[in-house]
Amino acid sequence: MPLVATGSIVEPAARRRHGVGAFNVIQLEHAEAIVAGAERAGAPVILQISENAVRYHGALAPIGRATLAVARAAAVPVAVHLDHVTSAELVREGVELGFTSVMFDASALDYEANVRATAEVAARCHERGVWVEAELGEVGGKDGVHAAGARTDPGEAAAFVASTGVDALAVAVGSSHAMLTRDAVLDLELVAALERAVPVPLVLHGSSGVADDHLAAAVERGMTKVNIATHLNKAFTAAVRACLDEHRELVDTRRYLGAGRASVAAEVARLLGVLRAA
Ligand code: G3H
Ligand code: ZN
Repeated sequence: MPLVATGSIVEPAARRRHGVGAFNVIQLEHAEAIVAGAERAGAPVILQISENAVRYHGALAPIGRATLAVARAAAVPVAVHLDHVTSAELVREGVELGFTSVMFDASALDYEANVRATAEVAARCHERGVWVEAELGEVGGKDGVHAAGARTDPGEAAAFVASTGVDALAVAVGSSHAMLTRDAVLDLELVAALERAVPVPLVLHGSSGVADDHLAAAVERGMTKVNIATHLNKAFTAAVRACLDEHRELVDTRRYLGAGRASVAAEVARLLGVLRAA
């Protein structure tokens, strides 16, 4: 199954009220694990690399090309997405490498500036057939401070989509990035109102802090792309820690990274079941 357009996964899912798992890749093992989990679940999946992960590696191309190669070899449809990008130059590089979509994140700007910057990026990406997600109503937590109070206004969201031409919209409905507990309370009425007002699929960020039943309820009310990162890192790190604790003499990195990878694959398969069963 080749690498596929992001819209070819997200749009049919939105019509069927299914969720799509979008999981963050930092190490190559994440990409391998996420695809293994998706194959086990028999579900399409989105691999995403954030600007922060690019900063960690010092460059996009090595991890980007590796992730694209894992996607191309998958037995299920896989899209590769550039996540939370604030630099137009990084968007250009992702498009050149063959990423199938980008999330341009100008959510920290005021409304007019966000519209201007996002519309420009969307026009350039669309010329190259690349799908674009943007954010309105900043989902907190990216700076380590949990701020679940932000909310996206449905009327403003509809106007934002019309003015920018984006293909999907990340909205603030009560989640917050990088939570270690799964007790965020989503405003499910607001999800439903946004779904009615906004003509493109909705995206939930900071989904690690949201429990399974709440994720399923959000999908039922019209949330489609569900971004999960921290929760998988918790699974990865717990498995690595257990492996190293159990085998104090261990030095072969494949042994403990392999344990982390297996744990992430199992959790991805389980989560894709939760999102599809909704
Ligand atoms: O864009 C990525 C996500 O919003 C991930 O957030 O680490 O809280 O799951 P999370
Ligand atoms: Zn996010």
